[in-house]
Parts: sequence; structure tokens; C-alpha cells
Amino acid sequence: MMEDSQVRIAVIGSGYVGLVAAVCFAELGHRVVCVDNVEAKVQALRAGDSLIHEHFLPELLAKHRDVNLSFTTSLADAVRESQAIFIAVGTPPTGQGDADLSYVEAVACEIARSMNEYKVIVEKSTVPVYTSDWIIRVMMRNGIERKDFDVASNPEFLREGTAVSDFLHPDRIVIGADNERAIELLRKIYAPLASGTYYKSADAIPGRCSAENPASLLLTTPKSAELIKHASNAFLATKISFINAVANLCEAVDADIEDVAMGMGMDTRIGRQFLRAGIGYGGSCFPKDVAAFRAVANQVGLDFNILEEVEEINKLQKNRFLQKVRAALWTLRGKRLGVLGLAFKGDTDDIRESPAIDVIRALQSEGCTISAYDPAAMQKAKADLGDSIQYAGDAYEAAQGADALLVLTDWPQFATLDLARLKTALRYPIVIDGRNLFLPATMQEHGFAYVSMGRASISPIRELADDRPLPVGQTRNSR
Ligand code: UGA
Repeated sequence: MMEDSQVRIAVIGSGYVGLVAAVCFAELGHRVVCVDNVEAKVQALRAGDSLIHEHFLPELLAKHRDVNLSFTTSLADAVRESQAIFIAVGTPPTGQGDADLSYVEAVACEIARSMNEYKVIVEKSTVPVYTSDWIIRVMMRNGIERKDFDVASNPEFLREGTAVSDFLHPDRIVIGADNERAIELLRKIYAPLASGTYYKSADAIPGRCSAENPASLLLTTPKSAELIKHASNAFLATKISFINAVANLCEAVDADIEDVAMGMGMDTRIGRQFLRAGIGYGGSCFPKDVAAFRAVANQVGLDFNILEEVEEINKLQKNRFLQKVRAALWTLRGKRLGVLGLAFKGDTDDIRESPAIDVIRALQSEGCTISAYDPAAMQKAKADLGDSIQYAGDAYEAAQGADALLVLTDWPQFATLDLARLKTALRYPIVIDGRNLFLPATMQEHGFAYVSMGRASISPIRELADDRPLPVGQTRNSR
């Protein structure tokens, strides 16, 4: 028997957002069916394979699978069974940078063909403003009366690696809807988080929120909700490019980006997060969403030039890192390099738009051979890079006999490696750290030449690792 607080939900798409949302809605007590048109994925999920590397996902899948969570390839069945339909299909970039909404449109058409009663259709994918209007138009063109459905926007802000706890302990839940009936259903879906009852349960997934401090809910219009998502990702990408530009300035004037970022972040108006300098942002969201947000602005006749600069800094950051490798090793042809990290960030197996993969490809084109290690992303990297690199069993094996070790992903476990053992493994004790995982003083104590981002280089022979541009009129020896 269905409890009064339970909502029948369909989630269309079992990618990162769709799968996590489906599992978490089941965790909140709703009856969920998750749809994917790839039969093999549905079979794997039915068999309990969680498909992505994500904390708590296997446990929650095991807990709810075949209880209040099922998987199907039949969108029509899922729609007919459900009160709320969350669209979580991909919105990849087109050649022009704007989002390709053809999957969203195809799903809307199929929903229209399967309607049997009033439904709330919810955009969960990241979509440009006006998408909700288009979904309404598509439904009506397919013969559905306006009174029989509503369209709402409920963007998702989860990060890969912490997706389940981000979903269940959100900074905010944004509901964009302009109809009471839709608002009421979405409020009901999120009631356990917004009222705090979820956090009282003994086996609740741990996180930031609690019964006393539950998740905040922001009610707004669909268009504002659509913009909140794009603007948030674009702002976070801007923060990263900004700190990378400051890191480059730090290198030029002998300041330390870690101290500068800390000092800036202590100002609560700025905040400490997303101020880590490195080889730039990657992943399936920021590069795509910054481009799509710019495209949205262009379409309404506005230039969002700041975002062009954000993208440019992000691209140049990888070149700056390559320049550091060249400066530390002189010539690259025939050099053997150990690489730590393939994923676009730590704690994920995802290599989409990974700066690490871009750097590896650039080094290969200059004649280097690579031996790489990543705690989770090796399988996915192999599908992309094939046998063009060696895949090491651990970090020490990647370093074995290498002319230098490059750190390309911020896996926390890399920061606690045995430095003496690493040094013994390397042919030359040179570490070029694109993620600032180590302290220069510690690397110096261990006798490494150490080059990082936005901090002074450490080298037994200083000039060899020093790629900073010299101020006008100064020679390298006069520093
Ligand atoms: C990002 C957002 O953080 C989520 O809020 C959003 O829901 C998601 O996109 C999405 O739109 O689906 P995610 O792509 O999982 O999440 O990864 P982030 O943790 O944001 O990192 C993105 C990139 O920025 C990574 O390459 C990371 O290494 C880099 N980064 C991040 C930095 O270089 N410096 C930082 O300080 C933070």
C-alpha cells in the first residue's frame, strides 16, 4: 500500500544525475522507476552494478533495488506509472557551444505519447533558459491539453565523487514552478530533506544537514531556476580561472598562491572553496556549461565576455604546465614520465574533459613515453588512450625509472605517498605538481626538484626548474 508521503517518480536517464537522483528519491521513501534506452545499462543496474564510482551509491542501490526502485527501458510504462517525471538526459554541446537539446525534445515527445493522467514534468538536466517553455510547446503540439501537465525546473548541484551526500545534504533545493499543483508535488518529494525528518533516521547518509539544520528550499519561476544552474556553474568556473590567473601573478612576483588563496578565502564574502589553483577545470559540466551560458547570452544579444576570458585562462593553464615540464627537463623527445592521475579531479573515475588526458596527449605529441597511475580512472582512460601509455599498478610503479613525476589529478591519497620511496623509484628526483598536493619545504627536505603552480620552484640547481618570466632588466643570476 502506498503511504501518503510517497510520490510515484520516473527518472529518465541513468547517467550521473539521473542515477543518483533515482537512488536518492528512493532513499527518501518514494517509489521510483529509472529509465534508460541502453538495455545493457538497465540489465547491469537491475543486477546491482552501480556503474559509476560514487560513495554510498552501491549501498543505497542494494537497499532500494527491487523494493521501491526499479529500472526499465520502457519510457511509456514509467510515465504511465508516475506522478512526477524527471528528465535527466544528456545535454551535450553542439559544434557552436550551445546545448544540444534534441534528447530533451525526444523525451518530451515520448512523454506526450504516453500520458494517461496529470503529470508534473521536471527538468533535472542542465538546460538553457526557455527550455521549460519549449517542453510546454512540444507537449501541446503533441496534442496534450495544458491542464493535464505542468513543467518545472529543479536543477541539481551535486558534484561527482560526493554526489549522494550532495544530493541528500544540499546547500539549497531550487524549485522553479509557476503553478501551485506542481509546487505542492515537488515540496512533497523534498519534504524529508526540507523538514529534516530524513536526518533523524538512524541510517541516514551522513552530511552537512541535520534535523535542526535541514535543507533550504528556494521557490522561484522555471526561468530563474534554469538560470540559477547555469550561472552557478559559470561563477564557479570563473572563480577557478581567477585564482589560476592570480597563481600566475604569484609566480612572477615570488608570492605563494596557497597563502594568497587562504587569505582571500578567509573573507566570508569570498569563501575558501573553489580557490585551488592548478591545471584548470575539466569534467562533463564546467567546460560545457560555460560555453552554453555564453551561447544563451549571445542568443539574446548580450556579450558575456568575462566567460570568454575564463575559458581562455583555463586553456592556457595547461600550456603553462607543459611549459614547466619543458623548462624542468629541457628536451622532451624520448623522456619517460611518470603520471599520477587521469581523472578530471580526485575521487572520481570520470575522464571526460580531463585536463590530465589533454596534458598526456600533448606530451606524447612531443615524444614522451608515459607510465600513469590513477586509483579509479584507469579503465576509462584505457578506452580513450588505449595502449599508447603504460598503466602502472600503483604510484611507485608509475614513478619507476621516470625522468620526472607529474601530478595531474588531486587524489587525496597522492598527498600521503612515501616520498623517500618515490625518490628511490625515480630516475631523477623531479616532481612537477599541477595540483599543489605537496608542500615545497617538505619536497626540499626530501631532496626533490619540485615545481608547482603559483609557488616558487624548489631545485638543487634552481635555474633548471625556474620558468618564471624575468622582470624587465633583470637577468636570471641577479635574482
Ligand atoms: C560541478 C559543480 O561543482 C556541481 O555543483 C554541479 O552540479 C556539477 O558540476 C554539474 O553541473 O553537474 P563536478 O563537475 O562534479 O561538479 O566537479 P567540481 O568538483 O566542480 O570540479 C570541476 C573541475 O574544477 C575539476 O576539474 C576540478 O579539479 C576543478 N577545480 C575545482 C579546480 O581546479 N579548483 C578548485 O578549486 C575546484
